[in-house]
Amino acid sequence: MPKLIVVNREGEESAIEVESGLTVMEAVRDNGFDELLALCGGCCSCATCHIYVDPAFADKLPKISEDEDDLLESSDHRNETSRLSCQIPFEDALDGLKITIAAED
Ligand code: FES
Repeated sequence: MPKLIVVNREGEESAIEVESGLTVMEAVRDNGFDELLALCGGCCSCATCHIYVDPAFADKLPKISEDEDDLLESSDHRNETSRLSCQIPFEDALDGLKITIAAED
């Protein structure tokens, strides 16, 4: 199974294996990272699934939608690698992707 590397807010890194068909948010949440609240359950309306994505994978990610962009704009912690993890289906091409859980707003 492809692997996802998760860095929590303490800076601790863990590798998790991701079943196909999950989004990055679902994979992180299902592996017990309770820092990622994902309050809206993945319908792109809360921004509590904010992560930073390794720039090396930027061209393998789906394009950011207008809704995602607007929500990220509401975060004080947005940077150029910010994404909402519920908007990224975890595909085999993302094997080894490293993400960092963003600071809480
Ligand atoms: S879980 Fe709410 S926007 Fe991603």
